This record gives sequence, structure tokens and C-alpha cells, in this order.
Amino acid sequence: MMGNQFFCLKLLLAFYLSSCHYVSVAHTENSFLPLKAVNLGNWLVTEGWMKPSLFDGITNKDLLDGTQVQFMSTKLQKYLCAENGGGDVVVANRTKPYGWETFRLWRVNESTFNFRVSHKQFVGLEDENGGSKLVATSDIPTNMETFQIVRNDGDPSRIRIRAPNGLFLQATGETLMTADYEVSTWEDSWEDSDPSVFKMTVLTNTVLKGEYQLTNGYGPDKASKIMRDHWNKYITEDDFKFMSENGLNAVRIPVGWWIAKDPTPPKPFVGGSLAVLDNAFTWAQKHGMKVIVDLHAVQGSQNGQPHSASRDGYREWGESYIPDTVATIDFLAERYANSESLIAIELMNEPQGVNLQSLKSYYQAGYDAVRKHTSSAYVIMSSPLDRDPKVLLPFARGFSGVVMDVHYYNLFSNQFSNMNVQQNIDYIKNHRASELASLTTSNGPLTFVGEWSGDWKVRGASKKDFQKFTQAQVKVYSRATFGWAYWAYKGDSNYWNLKWMIENNYFKF
Ligand SMILES: *[C@@H]1O[C@H](CO)[C@@H](O)[C@H](O)[C@H]1NC(C)=O
Ligand SMILES: *[C@@H]1O[C@H](CO)[C@@H](O)[C@H](O)[C@H]1NC(C)=O
Repeated sequence: MMGNQFFCLKLLLAFYLSSCHYVSVAHTENSFLPLKAVNLGNWLVTEGWMKPSLFDGITNKDLLDGTQVQFMSTKLQKYLCAENGGGDVVVANRTKPYGWETFRLWRVNESTFNFRVSHKQFVGLEDENGGSKLVATSDIPTNMETFQIVRNDGDPSRIRIRAPNGLFLQATGETLMTADYEVSTWEDSWEDSDPSVFKMTVLTNTVLKGEYQLTNGYGPDKASKIMRDHWNKYITEDDFKFMSENGLNAVRIPVGWWIAKDPTPPKPFVGGSLAVLDNAFTWAQKHGMKVIVDLHAVQGSQNGQPHSASRDGYREWGESYIPDTVATIDFLAERYANSESLIAIELMNEPQGVNLQSLKSYYQAGYDAVRKHTSSAYVIMSSPLDRDPKVLLPFARGFSGVVMDVHYYNLFSNQFSNMNVQQNIDYIKNHRASELASLTTSNGPLTFVGEWSGDWKVRGASKKDFQKFTQAQVKVYSRATFGWAYWAYKGDSNYWNLKWMIENNYFKF
């Protein structure tokens, strides 16, 4: 009896192993799965909220790319408005500021800017032949759309705007803004009655602080040193040693599209990050860890977020960007295909508001680009933030060696505002667990909780509360077949800093 049972078991096991081997011939890395990983966030793609001091040395650091501003004529006590949101004149007849009265900055240098209106045109002078009327009709910023903001020394919110013809803007009347006001150097009147004086409101809650703002804020002379210092100090080989000694077996490394153009990426991005990524692979290998290369910032921006390196918060990635984005993936796959540490390439982080058909075309082409160079690396597809996470499941079933990435934060939505400790934990145990289970299907892609954190909206929580919350998450997310990755390894805020959490005994797994 016993012998017979044993034999059956052996047969079954042999059959199981050989069939596994057959279907997943390309994927011999499975002993690392499910991954226990951490995101090296704010390293090769910077995010100001994780380390605000990076921005400290920028002149006029409240006026970064994408910052939204409003201008009120002190004489008329009315706001500047791009009539119809753009494609029309600029007037000064609005008593309250809304979207049409709000302008997004494109920074040329510390005092010179383009103003982008809500329908995406730029404010400029009507024509080059002496016309001084202000309009918002150009789709690209040329010299005629470039203005200098001159701030009052005593009150930096009182400004004048110098137009490209060298003269200042004035509210000639409520329905006419012209660039024909001369301010003599000896006259420094900032009276309310002066038609060239405006009160500038910076919408501080709109300020973007990403890699674009950082590098363009410092400008070409300073950005290179700032970035190199940051790359060299933020993550070092010691960190890989620490991660590996503490039981983590992989890192997810966000990268930006410009890394493929190294060493001379388009401005304002700074060259040199590719060598840093090379180092990460070397260190990972030395300390027995795997690397996920995550294309986090995609040309054109796939979500308008600062972490996509968006210039001004508009999402512009779409069909026309597919070839360039595939080329970036092709470059990364070719470079790291033969590294023992490469476990996966993620095609695009957190698409939001992109056309689903374009996303699928891109995922198909990106998958093919990876497979050109490696049959063993997994290909990760991030599920679009603005859709049901199951939307790509049928599509993803058509590939082998594919992973679906979902991000789970008990934040960024009002539903978490009033949840207490237990309700947060229950949400993980119930809602997250069942969603993850529904995504994890036997003939479908592997599943990955590629971002999550121990932070939440509960205020005044105790250490024990945090421990319970992170442990509940680890327990559920460990059921993801590809594993999980904490956001992030390092950051000024403790609960976004896995190193701190581990050192202070907030985190066990
Ligand atoms: C900023 O750019 C403008 C336009 O190119 C130029 O005239 C000005 O000198 C620059 N200012 C600084 C501080 O670099
Ligand atoms: C502002 O001026 C424009 C241009 O003359 C006009 O079409 C619009 O109706 C005015 N709006 C208000 C609120 O006065």
C-alpha cells in the first residue's frame, strides 16, 4: 500500500515537474517568486515630495514648470483670462479666477516663462510686425510667446510682465491687453493704479515637483552636478547589502525614457543615469538580488503626474508616442537581457486616462521588443489606474511570461478618509484580497502588487497599529504570484522608507 502510494506520488510529481518545465521553459527564475521587493523610488526618477530639499537651491523655486498661476490687474481688480480657454484674445474682465483664468508655466529660465492656457495654447503677441495685442493662439512657444516676470522686491506676488518686444503688458481696458507700457528705470512705482502691475497668485496645491521641474529649475549649468550627487548618495552598494541581509530578494527600479538617450538626453534631463543603473545590476548580482526595470516616466507623460516627469501636468502620451516608447524598451531589454539579475521589464508605470486600444498596441509591441532579446525575463503590464483592474486580463492571457501589476494604497481617495485602524485592516483582508484573487487566474498572467506602503490616513496611530497594518498587507500581497514591492526604500517620511521601518521594527515579513 505504502509503496504503491509513494510510487503514484512520484509519478504525479514527475509528471507535474515535466509539464511545468514544458510550459514555463523560458522561466527558470521561479525560485525567487513570489518576490519580496522594494521600489528604489526617487532615485533615477526624482519625486520632490520624497526629498523636498533637492529643490532648495533653485532660484524662484515657487515658479517651476507646470505651476499654475493667476494674474489680477491691480488697477481693474480683474483677472486675466484666455477667452474661451484658448484660441482667442486674452482679456482682463473676470472677477473670479477659474480654469480660463489660470496659466501653466513653462520655465525658460529663472525669470522667463511661457504661459500655457487650459486648451493648451500659449499666450503671445498677436503678430511680429509691431502688433502688441495679447492672444492665446500658438500651439508652440516661440520667442513671441516668451515673457519675463519682474517681481517687486518687497512683495514677490506683485509683478510686471515684460513682453518679447521689450515692453510691459498693461490692462489697456477690460477687453484689451497690450504690450506697450514703458517703465523707466528711475520710475519704480508699484501703485495699484498702475495698469502694468499685476497680483500673481501661485496655486501652491498644483505645484509639480518631478524630474522635469528639478532639472529645468536648476538649469543646464547646475542640474548635472545636483543629479550626479543625488544618484551617488541616495542608493549605494551598502543599501543592496542591507536589503539582501534583511530578506528582500528584488528591487523595482523606476527609470525615465531619457535614460535610453544617455549620455546626452534632451534638455533639461541630465546624462549619467545609465551608468548608475549598470551599477545597480552589478550590486544586485553581488548580493543575490533580482532587478525589475520599470519604465516609470514615459515620453509625453502617461498620467500627467510628476513621477512621469510631466512638464505641466497634461497627459500627452498616445498612439504617436508608441514607436519611441517601444524603442526605449528595446534599448533596456537589449542592454540587460544577459544580466543574471534581470527578472522583469515593466512596460509603463500607472497609465491613466490613456486610450485602451493604444495601450494594448503598445503592450503588444513592447512585449515583442523584450522577447527579441530575452525569453526568460518577465514582461510586466501595469493596469490602468482609471479602469477596472481586470480590464486587461483577457488580453494578457495571450502572452507567456507576463505579469499584471496593481498598486494598492489606502490613500488618494476619499473612501479612506474616515477609516479607523481596524477598518483599514479589514479593507486589506476583504476588498484587496478578493480583488487580488480575482486577478490571479490559473491560465492568466502572474500578479504583482508593484507598489504599496505603510502610510494611511489614520492620524495618531501607534507603532502597534502600523505593525498590524503592514503585516495585514504583507500577508495578503504575498498571495500575488509574482510578489510585492514596497514603496519605497528611502524617503524623508518614515512610513515611505522601508529601511527605517525595518531598522525600527515596524516591518516583518
Ligand atoms: C532668460 O532667458 C531670456 C530669453 O532667452 C534671456 O533674455 C535672459 O537673459 C535669460 N535670463 C537669465 C537670468 O538667464
Ligand atoms: C470679456 O470680454 C470678452 C471680449 O470682449 C467678452 O466676449 C466677454 O463676454 C467678456 N466677459 C465678461 C464676463 O465681461
